[in-house]
Amino acid sequence: MRRIAIIPGDGIGIEVTHEAVRVLETVRDCFGLTLELVYFDWGAEKYLRENVTLPEGALEMFKRDFNAIFAGAFGDPRVQSNKHAIDILGGLRFGLDLYINFRPVRLLNNRFTPLKQGHRKNINFVVFRENTEGIYVNVGGHFKRGTDQELAIQEEINTRHGVERIIRAAFAYARQHGRKRVALGDKSNVLTYGHELWRRVFKMVAVEYPEIEACAQYADAMAMSMVLDPGQYEVIVTNNMFGDILTDLGAAIQGGLGVAASANLHPGRVSLFEPVHGSAPDKAGRGVANPIGAIATVAMMLDYLGYSDVARRIEQAIEAVCEAGEVTIDLGGGLSTAEAGSAICHRLAHS
Ligand code: IPM
Ligand code: MG
Repeated sequence: MRRIAIIPGDGIGIEVTHEAVRVLETVRDCFGLTLELVYFDWGAEKYLRENVTLPEGALEMFKRDFNAIFAGAFGDPRVQSNKHAIDILGGLRFGLDLYINFRPVRLLNNRFTPLKQGHRKNINFVVFRENTEGIYVNVGGHFKRGTDQELAIQEEINTRHGVERIIRAAFAYARQHGRKRVALGDKSNVLTYGHELWRRVFKMVAVEYPEIEACAQYADAMAMSMVLDPGQYEVIVTNNMFGDILTDLGAAIQGGLGVAASANLHPGRVSLFEPVHGSAPDKAGRGVANPIGAIATVAMMLDYLGYSDVARRIEQAIEAVCEAGEVTIDLGGGLSTAEAGSAICHRLAHS
C-alpha cells in the first residue's frame, strides 16, 4: 500500500493533475497496485479565501503518513507576490530536505524538437539540480530601500554538505544506469569562492568513479552546447539557479514545457513530484494543456515507489501516443487535455 498526496494547485495544474490521476487509477485497476490517493486543495483559492498556504503541521503529516506527493502547478494572477507558490513549493522542497531536483530531458519524437536536423540526435540526458540551497535560500536584505542609494543583497549559499550530496547523487545515478559521462555546470571562472567549491568537490568525487568521464563546464557554455550539441550530455549536475534555467532550455529542446517531468527527491524519504511547467493562467480552463509532463511525472513517482515495471509501461504508452500523433496542439496534434489523457490510459489498459 502506498499513500500519495495529490495537490492539483492552480490553473492548468488542476487539468493535468486530473489526467495524471486517471493514469494512477488505470494502473491501480489494471495492474493491481494498492494506491491510496488523498487530495489537498492548497493553492491560490485557499490562500485568498483563508490566508493559508502550506498549513501548519503539513511537513510532519507528510513525513508520517505519506510515501509521495504529486503537485500540479502553482501561480495565479490574483496573487502577484506568488506567496502561496513559494510557501507551498519552496516549503516542501526545503522543509522535506528534497535536495535532488531530478529532471530528465528525453526527446520522445523527432518531430517535437525545435532544433535543426543534425543537432537533434540523442537528446537523452538527466539533470541533477541542487534543490535546497544556492540563491534560493532567501538570505539577504535591503538597505535604504526606496531611496536613490538603495542596496539589495541576495546571498548564494553553497555548503560542502549540500554540494557534495548532489554531486554524489549524480555520479551514483550514472553508475547505476550505465551512463558514461557526468558534466558539471558552474561559473567558477567568476564565482571564485562558491563555485570553486563545486569544482573541487566534483573532482574529488569523480576519482571514485574511474569508469565515468567527469567533465566540468561553465554554465553559459553548457547552455550553448545544449542547443548545438545536446547529444554530448548524459548526466548534468548543477546548482539551484542554473538548474532552473537549464531545465527550461532542456524542456524546450525535448518538445516544450508540456512534456517535461520533474522529481524532488530525498532518497528513502517522502518525495515530491511535479511537472516542470507552471500554472499557465492564459491556457487554464480551455482544455488545451498537455498532460504528458504530468503523466511522465507520475511514471517517475511510481518508479520511486518501487513499481518500475508499471512506470516503464506508462513511458511506453506516452511514446506510443506521440508516435501516433494522439497529442495536444502544442505537439502538433488536435486532442484536448482530457482526450490526450484518455489516449494514454487506453494504451495502458491494453498494454
Ligand atoms: C521550477 C520553477 C520554480 C523554481 C519556481 C516556480 C519557484 O521555475 O520548478 O523550475 O524556480 O524552482
Ligand atoms: Mg523553473
